[in-house]
Amino acid sequence: MIEDLIGRWDGEEVVVRFDRPSGTWMFLCIHSTRLGPAAGGTRMKTYARPGDALRDALGLSAAMTLKLAAVDLPFGGGKAVLDVPGPIGGEDRRGLLLRYADLLRSLGGTYRTGPDVNTSPEDMDVIAERAPYVFCRTEAAGGSGDPGPHTARGVFHGIRSSIGYAFGSDDLHGRVILVQGVGDVGAPLAAYLAAAGARVLISDIAADRVTEVAARIGAEVVAPGEAMRTECDVYAPCALGGTLNEETIPGLRCRVVAGSANNQLAEPEDAERLRAAGILYAPDFLINAGGALYALGLEALGWTRERIEERHEGIGKTLVEIYRQADAEGIPTAAAAERLARSRLDQAA
Ligand code: PHE
Repeated sequence: MIEDLIGRWDGEEVVVRFDRPSGTWMFLCIHSTRLGPAAGGTRMKTYARPGDALRDALGLSAAMTLKLAAVDLPFGGGKAVLDVPGPIGGEDRRGLLLRYADLLRSLGGTYRTGPDVNTSPEDMDVIAERAPYVFCRTEAAGGSGDPGPHTARGVFHGIRSSIGYAFGSDDLHGRVILVQGVGDVGAPLAAYLAAAGARVLISDIAADRVTEVAARIGAEVVAPGEAMRTECDVYAPCALGGTLNEETIPGLRCRVVAGSANNQLAEPEDAERLRAAGILYAPDFLINAGGALYALGLEALGWTRERIEERHEGIGKTLVEIYRQADAEGIPTAAAAERLARSRLDQAA
């Protein structure tokens, strides 16, 4: 299984550690350092089997390479997955993070991490006690803090541009946008969309969270099982990836798919399935690059907040260019976005 997974992957290096005290499998995947040191978050999650965690880490690291190249950042792509046996907090979590930090430090800066699903700026503070290669520590500790709302900002601009392209006007008033998953990115995204006049529908498997967000921003709640079949202008997947697949795509009742989740397509063929269904798909690795632009821009490149907001708007502009190319050539939008990313990688080769 491991040899098949890694054999089919085109990245540079995989580091595996089993952490006995917590029973955690650690997979650090350095997909590419062609444009610079590999950057990408550390995800903490429980998988059915360690091989599933490795598969996730391999795919997510490749997406980071495309993401950072697509928005022209001088970083390569990497990702780490900590496959924990169950929820972990307190001193056990701290111990795990410190041992993970020792592993990170041993790589000498080839891979630089940050938060991802189930890891926070506070976790980054702990890792930074032992390893210098950490973005998004808390602001109190001198870091750039939670990238989630900044990822949301980029997705917001991306949705607006996508609506402009699909409907001929980027006015959000009266547009129906379904945000699936109102966590760290989905909740601030839903708030931006509601403030801009959209009719926002939200769904989340966490009932308390969805109720709180709905009351705060004035959104309507849709049951998790109904989300992908609900009629809307834009479906914004903002939870875990893989929701777009052979089974779900024929049931979609939206004109645009544009959300923050990483690796939204279950398999590459799903890009063509969306195109054939007449659905405009905002390639995930491009529309969700706002968090990376924020954290790397602020911490590594010395950008101002104004410059970051410009780059977030730039995500929307790049998407429109991608859409035009894809339509002119009759290819999926994901293929056009990949071509842009690969041209930057080829130039650096
Ligand atoms: N994990 C987030 C992402 O996938 C944000 C992040 C990017 C964090 C790069 C650190 C470095 O985009």
